[in-house]
Amino acid sequence: MAINYTEDIQIEKSKTSKIANVDFNNLAFGRVFSDHMLVCDFKNGEWQNPSIVPYQPVTLEPSAKIFHYGQSIFEGMKAYKDSDNNVFLFRPVDNFNRLNISAKRLAMPELPEACFMNGLKELIKLEKDWIPTSEGSSLYIRPFMFATGQGFHASPANAYKFIIACAPSGSYFSGKVKVLIEEKYSRSANGGVGFAKAGGNYAGQFYPTQLANNRGYQQVIWTDDNTHEYIEEAGAMNIFVRINDTLLTVPTSDRILDGITRKSILTIAEAEGIDVEVRKIKVAELIEASENGSLKELFGAGTAAVVSPISGFGFKGKDYELPELENTYGALLKKRITDIQTNKSDDPYGWRVKV
Ligand code: PLP
Ligand code: COI
Repeated sequence: MAINYTEDIQIEKSKTSKIANVDFNNLAFGRVFSDHMLVCDFKNGEWQNPSIVPYQPVTLEPSAKIFHYGQSIFEGMKAYKDSDNNVFLFRPVDNFNRLNISAKRLAMPELPEACFMNGLKELIKLEKDWIPTSEGSSLYIRPFMFATGQGFHASPANAYKFIIACAPSGSYFSGKVKVLIEEKYSRSANGGVGFAKAGGNYAGQFYPTQLANNRGYQQVIWTDDNTHEYIEEAGAMNIFVRINDTLLTVPTSDRILDGITRKSILTIAEAEGIDVEVRKIKVAELIEASENGSLKELFGAGTAAVVSPISGFGFKGKDYELPELENTYGALLKKRITDIQTNKSDDPYGWRVKV
């Protein structure tokens, strides 16, 4: 029987709510979780009906292939509430499409659009009260899929679970972000999985990032694995550079995540009349621009990070400071994108989706 994802979402409501224990004016990022989650299982060759259940642990066999072969992918998105209590998502179909791009690369089953979109909307409607409204906060939404099927044979699993969980969240970074431009380790390689939102991409970053943290840098800016001469992206965000009045970012590739914030910012910047260039950027060019004063801004862009200004970068043992400007492209673009997300401005692009 064909599965109708609109009508078939069963909801089991939680008997109690944790919401009264949450300080919505003092939220960290992704540390407390809302009362419910969406769950959908893939078995017998097809995705079953999703259901919404109380947020709870997942039970797995030790032989589940997620533990051994790392078939695990995820997405990151946010829900926002305006002053009239209307709820919005931002470009959710782009997250859905990217989840399936990741699924295909990791030999995992692609999810039907109706399962993702209807399940997401039903869940967010139910969790409406969990959407914070204080400045800079939102309900962070984490859709993810992993292999539950069993076996030690190194081959794709035959069963998977898709979950959407939510966390009312504040800013991803606290304070200024100083980055280290990586000259030894690599996040991804040509032909690899860098463009996918695969859990392993993040695990592989933790050790080099810890080394950078120990030296006082919050994030690593990854460079190309071949020469380490070109900047690529940061651990959880794409990177923008302003040289004089030109805004630059690097082209996406099979080593770089095609960020939804990145492409939205490119569209907005062009509409603002900013001179935009998408091209490869050499570390040497950054250093030269820093030394001759033409490097005006560096910032990261991502769902969790929104637009995060970078105050300085380290490379080969030397630190380079960014100037402190009054009117930055970063601040302007952050305002424009968050105004669209939170229904404070028109949305000429049709990115906002009312729930
Ligand atoms: N690059 C990486 C490695 C990320 O994890 C993220 C976060 O999702 C981004 C870039 C930004 O992508 P998006 O704007 O779609 O969140
Ligand atoms: C996001 O921005 O949504 C991400 O997925 C980054 C994450 C590692 C927090």
